[in-house]
Amino acid sequence: MAIILDNENKVFTLQTDHSMYQMKADRYGVLLHTWFGKKGTPFDHSYLITYADRGFSGNPYDAENERTYSLDALPQEYSSFGSGDYRASSLKVRYPDGASSCELRYVKHELCQGKYSIPGLPAIYHTSENKAETLIVTLEDTRKHFYVHLYYGVMEDLDIITRSVRIENHSGQPIWLDNILSLCIDFLHGTYDMHTFYGRHTMERNHQRTAVHHGIQSIGSTRGMSSHHYNPFLILSDANTTETSGDCYGFSFLYSGDFIASAEFDTYNQTRILMGIHPDNFHYCLEPGAVFCSPEAAMAYSENGLEQLSHIFHKAYRNNLCRGKYKNTRRPVLLNSWEGVYFDFTGEKLLNMAKDAADMGIELFVMDDGWFGKRDNDVSGLGDWIVNEKKLGCTLGELSDRIHELGLQFGIWFEPECVSEDSELYRTHPDWALKIPGKSPTRSRYQLVLDFSREEVRTYIFNQMCQVLDSARVEYLKWDFNRSISDVYSADLPPERQGEVLHRFVLGLYDMLEKLSERYPDLLIEGCCGGGGRFDAGMLYYTPQIWTSDNTDAIERLTIQYGTSFGYPVSSMGAHVSQCPNEQTGRCTPINTRAIVAMSGSFGYELDVNHMSAEEKETVRRQISLFKAYYDLIQYGEYYRLTDPQKTKDYHCWQFTSPDKGEALLCAVALQIRPNGPGCWTKLRGLIPDAIYLVNGTEYPGDALMHAGIPLPKAKEEYESFQIHITKK
Ligand code: GLA
Repeated sequence: MAIILDNENKVFTLQTDHSMYQMKADRYGVLLHTWFGKKGTPFDHSYLITYADRGFSGNPYDAENERTYSLDALPQEYSSFGSGDYRASSLKVRYPDGASSCELRYVKHELCQGKYSIPGLPAIYHTSENKAETLIVTLEDTRKHFYVHLYYGVMEDLDIITRSVRIENHSGQPIWLDNILSLCIDFLHGTYDMHTFYGRHTMERNHQRTAVHHGIQSIGSTRGMSSHHYNPFLILSDANTTETSGDCYGFSFLYSGDFIASAEFDTYNQTRILMGIHPDNFHYCLEPGAVFCSPEAAMAYSENGLEQLSHIFHKAYRNNLCRGKYKNTRRPVLLNSWEGVYFDFTGEKLLNMAKDAADMGIELFVMDDGWFGKRDNDVSGLGDWIVNEKKLGCTLGELSDRIHELGLQFGIWFEPECVSEDSELYRTHPDWALKIPGKSPTRSRYQLVLDFSREEVRTYIFNQMCQVLDSARVEYLKWDFNRSISDVYSADLPPERQGEVLHRFVLGLYDMLEKLSERYPDLLIEGCCGGGGRFDAGMLYYTPQIWTSDNTDAIERLTIQYGTSFGYPVSSMGAHVSQCPNEQTGRCTPINTRAIVAMSGSFGYELDVNHMSAEEKETVRRQISLFKAYYDLIQYGEYYRLTDPQKTKDYHCWQFTSPDKGEALLCAVALQIRPNGPGCWTKLRGLIPDAIYLVNGTEYPGDALMHAGIPLPKAKEEYESFQIHITKK
């Protein structure tokens, strides 16, 4: 039983295999948060709450003159603006009379078998009904205008608890949602570190760990996408938590648009975590009888450090968030045309590349940007999804057939949400782009954004895409989005609804992706947003892999993939071997290092293979057969961050271990060569201590490999790398 209800005392305990979460509706009907952490007795943990007369922290009217009862100091399960709790709140509603203060009180609760889903939004699912339960706790505002239904999905074996909030307006008048976050958690005591993942285009998801201090520390995006800049994933840990020890809590937002995630350390040393849609550009009008559902937030707890926390998210996202054929089928090794030829290609050029690719064992050829409309550079053409047969020298069907004749699958790039001003689409429908009346829009990469909140716009683009996809055999689609959104205004919505545009845009995106997956169930869709600008759990529901970054430098990728691994599985990270010197950094790295790094993701190549030497081609052949041999270990095994590439000087190391611990793969990249330098060792993890393992034909006990480690081979050149395969005897 995952959910334990004490109906008399209104204590609701949610249990997974290793974590516990609890809330209680108290004597005034206020829903208090009483526990999140290690699994224990489902005993009423409200004994932990202390009551004190806090000056300048008022008392709700129902508490009469009980000066020690203030919402400002009590742990709230879902805090509301204007309730006398002056910390950052999760809900702010404007009433028809202009008031924005609201208080919430418990009404009822309901237990359902299975995991809830959210219409039109991504959500973790669970196929086994008896391993997942849903609790719905209903609150009502004291002015009796609306219900707040708090949804909790408890998936015992995944060690994941999810949250979503559904607001129902039963007042007979419209109300305005100015803020409706998905998650609010109060920790009564403790000093914590906050881990966030910041970045920029070509350097996404750098891990940052800082002490939570008095005040509010927040990250977020107001770019209309989750962004390169901050990822919608947050970890709160004890100050002394390491990879392998200590308490930590992970919070992941399954949403691809504006978000906010914050930690507030209040002046009584309590910590509040909030996560949800960023309120800056969100104002939603809820008509009488209408409902609004917030996107889902997923939470996990680990008492054994960050590594275990990541493993929880990896497993859940791989198996219970990603969908479709490629969730469990081996993904093809691909060659993408972008860094090899950019816009400069003909059909013949692509076929020549495909020939060499097939000869080396590559399985999928992807034609990136430049195949449609007037598109020989990035100034024009977006929106005109009509094959440029003149450039290709044939139809798409013919090109695809010839690529298939070589034994390859065929893939194609789209950027459905954008439009160039120099395009037939824009000339015909200028109002289909997001633009503010009377203001010239901000351009980015010369392009504008289509109003995906409008169904007719989506239908038009969808039909265009289908025409292309139906005209050829296409097994893969790269869905790109190459700018942040600005000029948020829809020509289709009245003034009072303009605050809904960005959310409706995201719902429109999800609607398109859902329709595409329904119509082409075998299509492998890779998400992309100028690299990793929309690398989030929302997208993973529709696209099982995402292009991690436009930065393909193997050494830079160590940091990017390391940071990404905290919240996302290896199988979700698109990673390619590109040419040297690297296009972004000018750095040269050995081809094996580029492959070892790219293999620790969804593997592919992105360079002009026609320019490779015979020796390099032979190397690629070997790399692909190695990748195939290690596929299950890498993609379905457990991933261990052995070092931090932002701190380590000599070797950066990581490891994969099969679920049964019978096999492991140690990967090491030498970051610098030190002549006559000290030796380097690394300690393995996740092995069976008393089992015997074989490393290069020599036997070692598991505990020695983990506690004493193994010496790393001496690197002879800068950035040399090693893959060491370890098997149980
Ligand atoms: C973005 C993507 C690249 C490539 C180009 C094409 O930058 O991240 O991989 O597809 O667009 O214009």
